[in-house]
Amino acid sequence: MPSEIGHDVCRFFRFAIFILPTLLMGSLYYMPSFQHLIKPYKSSSTAHHPILVLIWLWPFDQPFDLELCSSQFNIQGCHLTVDQSLYDKADAVLIHHRDITRDLSNLPQSPRPPHQKWIWMNLESPSNTAQIPSLDNQFNVSLSYRRDADISVPYGRLVPVNQDHKFVPPEKDKLVCWIVSNYNPEHKRVHYYEQLQKYVQVHVYGDYFERHVSEEEYKDIVSGCKFYLSFENSMHKDYITEKLFNALDLGAIPIVVGPSRHNYECFIPADAFIHVNDFSTVRALAKYLLLLDRDEAMYRRYFRWKRHFQVKTFSFPAENACLACDYIRQNRQYQVLMNLYQWYWDKGEEPDKSLFLY
Ligand SMILES: *[C@@H]1O[C@H](CO)[C@@H](O)[C@H](O)[C@H]1NC(C)=O
Repeated sequence: MPSEIGHDVCRFFRFAIFILPTLLMGSLYYMPSFQHLIKPYKSSSTAHHPILVLIWLWPFDQPFDLELCSSQFNIQGCHLTVDQSLYDKADAVLIHHRDITRDLSNLPQSPRPPHQKWIWMNLESPSNTAQIPSLDNQFNVSLSYRRDADISVPYGRLVPVNQDHKFVPPEKDKLVCWIVSNYNPEHKRVHYYEQLQKYVQVHVYGDYFERHVSEEEYKDIVSGCKFYLSFENSMHKDYITEKLFNALDLGAIPIVVGPSRHNYECFIPADAFIHVNDFSTVRALAKYLLLLDRDEAMYRRYFRWKRHFQVKTFSFPAENACLACDYIRQNRQYQVLMNLYQWYWDKGEEPDKSLFLY
């Protein structure tokens, strides 16, 4: 099974924001524990032959452009196809968990060529992943947002930049915003929102509130808010989605509900976000937001990281497929994922530190 990444990585990140200005950027690339956080995926030029990856089913039944690996993502030597008649020739078969039927009848049925690898791709959290029986011992490689996946593709990451000018947050006309597509009163995040809006005005959007947000409107709304509720639908290790990375990118301070602060600090600097668990009450959080609203210097301190980093997001599923191909091309190790479920569910849990309300 993939190895666990130690906690030190996360602490190193916290530390890194302070030492970066005095370090040569290049040297960071050679610190092994930090590499996966900042190193852009690079293709080596030593491919023997182009790798053929068969995308068994269109993820979510949505076709996408299969020709983007080289032009968009700078990944060479990859050939993606959805032509199932090429099954016997494929070096790898990419299978998106969400599209597998419960009886596995839509998985490839022909015998597996000896060196072919099956890649299990899943970007949903354990709470939102169906536990289809008998998936153990079927796959050879995992692709997920988890840091300990074979192919770890987070929803976003920070990459180093050298910015000479200070970042100035965009014009704001709203204090707190939340765009929510799946409003479920059972979700912890909804309880949190309900408490919060007693103390500060929260501008809410989404179909549930009959305020549909188009893609064009999205950016304007988020950047026009001082704070954005980056509330995950479920709490799991490393399950930190575009809700966070988009807010960071668009210049709103994310307020997060999700895994622990420690876990967030594996991905972003400690002073780039507000964790609801930083406060013992929702009222205290609200008070703090109002304080930041009045104190521009304090508010802007949350954007110091922008001098050294910028946000990179990953475009699902094209980029994931290209990264999968790149992994197969570079990695000659064989394995069998014997305990996929055990790995994904048992190790994906975060201890439930219930949010303290009122
Ligand atoms: C991949 O997993 C299958 C199913 O367990 C196994 O039979 C096969 O040997 C593995 N392939 C490689 C290349 O490791």
